[in-house]
Amino acid sequence: MPIQIITTVAEMQQRAQAARATGQRIVFVPTMGCLHQGHLSLLEAGRKQGDLLVLSIFVNPTQFGQGEDFEDYPRDLRCDSELAEVVGVDIVFAPTVAEMYPQGYATFVDVEGITKGLCGASRPGHFRGVTTVVGKLFNIIQPQLALFGNKDFQQLTVIRRMTIDLNIPVEIIGMPIFREPDGLAMSSRNVYLSAEQRQQALVLSQSIVEALRMVAAGQTDSSVIVAALENRISSKSAARIDYIKICHRLSLEEQVKVDEDSVLLLALFFGKTRLIDNSYLKRAE
Ligand code: PAJ
Repeated sequence: MPIQIITTVAEMQQRAQAARATGQRIVFVPTMGCLHQGHLSLLEAGRKQGDLLVLSIFVNPTQFGQGEDFEDYPRDLRCDSELAEVVGVDIVFAPTVAEMYPQGYATFVDVEGITKGLCGASRPGHFRGVTTVVGKLFNIIQPQLALFGNKDFQQLTVIRRMTIDLNIPVEIIGMPIFREPDGLAMSSRNVYLSAEQRQQALVLSQSIVEALRMVAAGQTDSSVIVAALENRISSKSAARIDYIKICHRLSLEEQVKVDEDSVLLLALFFGKTRLIDNSYLKRAE
């Protein structure tokens, strides 16, 4: 079957219901498009785990703050559909903004607590937009399984919380961070970087390596690790630090001491471009 592109909620819902009625297992990968290898690794894993593989491509306005890059966010549906076809996607769901948020739209999903710190602190309202759109997409696509990247660690934690709290019958899988050969985590926003910023952005993955080395050498004091990374970043790059934190992987609360549940989370600005990265400090991804 050739890849199918669906743009309306009604058609997508009918298609999902028909698939479920014949016992098909629906696997879903939500994205904002401009697909890169990180997205494709999710799709490749998803392909193996179900019958109907659905990819959504929707640049979701409600998760962008004022002055953020909603208008400039890279969009290329034709290129994305071609890549999707190669990895075996069955359906691309690519609705318009008016289709997802028609006139009179008034309902939002808000996960409390874990959305307030880290990216939530510098992007107020961001996770409310994410959970709202992902909740809507789950209702439209009705997947048994959905795959997300560990790259957006807080997002994944928030989505897990939402599906548990709202009793959404979907299994959430977190997938490893896909990196460029030099270590930079793949991101649709990497295209914004100048050549110099692209080079400087290596400080993200290098900081993770340094933290892992410190922990392997026995350092468990979070403030010592964070201070070493702050020092590295300020001396080796023009990056502006948004946050560097060591948090518990589930509560996302800051930890004084590193333990098995610790995750290092970083967000740095390179010019206007904000990049994130993370790693567990004592367990495999
Ligand atoms: P987007 O940034 O397009 O990412 C879509 C999915 O790809 C997310 O689950 C993200 O974590 C994953 N991803 C991105 N870069 C990755 C990498 N280098 N390795 C592995 N996975 C990676 O995240 C969003 O879109 C949106 O917030 C969305 C969930 C679609 C809601 O609008």
